[in-house]
Amino acid sequence: MGPGRLVVMASGSGSNLQSVLDACADGTLAAAVVAVVSDRAEAGALARASRAGVPAIHVGAQPGEPRADYDARLADVIAGFGPDLVVLAGWMRLLTVGFLGWFPERVINLHPARPGELPGAHAIERAWQEAIAGERTITGVMVHLVPDEGVDDGPVLATADVAIRPDDTLDSLTARVHETEHRLLVDTLKNVMQRSPA
Ligand code: GAR
Repeated sequence: MGPGRLVVMASGSGSNLQSVLDACADGTLAAAVVAVVSDRAEAGALARASRAGVPAIHVGAQPGEPRADYDARLADVIAGFGPDLVVLAGWMRLLTVGFLGWFPERVINLHPARPGELPGAHAIERAWQEAIAGERTITGVMVHLVPDEGVDDGPVLATADVAIRPDDTLDSLTARVHETEHRLLVDTLKNVMQRSPA
């Protein structure tokens, strides 16, 4: 079995991408990131990819471009890299079924909340606000398959809880959630690749 081919899609700073790049480099993960794709030219994830010698590709949406057209261009670029898995690591656009149909059972999303909770953007901040309001003491992280256009929803591959401490600030909670997701994402990719050898 050769190393798994991963395409990572990321809109943000790319700290989760970095954990995957590091795990590939040190042999923790028998995989290679073959491309990083971002919808944002200035995404830190693209700079991290370039530093690691991985193709860093910006696919920006044109003003007024229909989602289906954008996703077709995106799928075309990504399919060209022949990925075994497409990893959404902070990808902040909804993908159409047209895109997902290109990579059935191969698109994996990371979300900083427990299954069924806090879908969408700013999940850590919303969890922290609910904790301050006395409405929650735990949040978490999940990695799941993306079968359809549901937001941060789909068959769960792995999840981990993160306790919210009474003295947590948004920064301290964010740091702990990120540490948890860096670890959970790598562990889950490892498990998925062991189950379905490329
Ligand atoms: C991560 O916390 C990821 O779980 C989240 O975006 C962040 C990206 O951070 N994804 C979502 O909220 C998806 N709805 P990073 O750019 O440092 O990896």
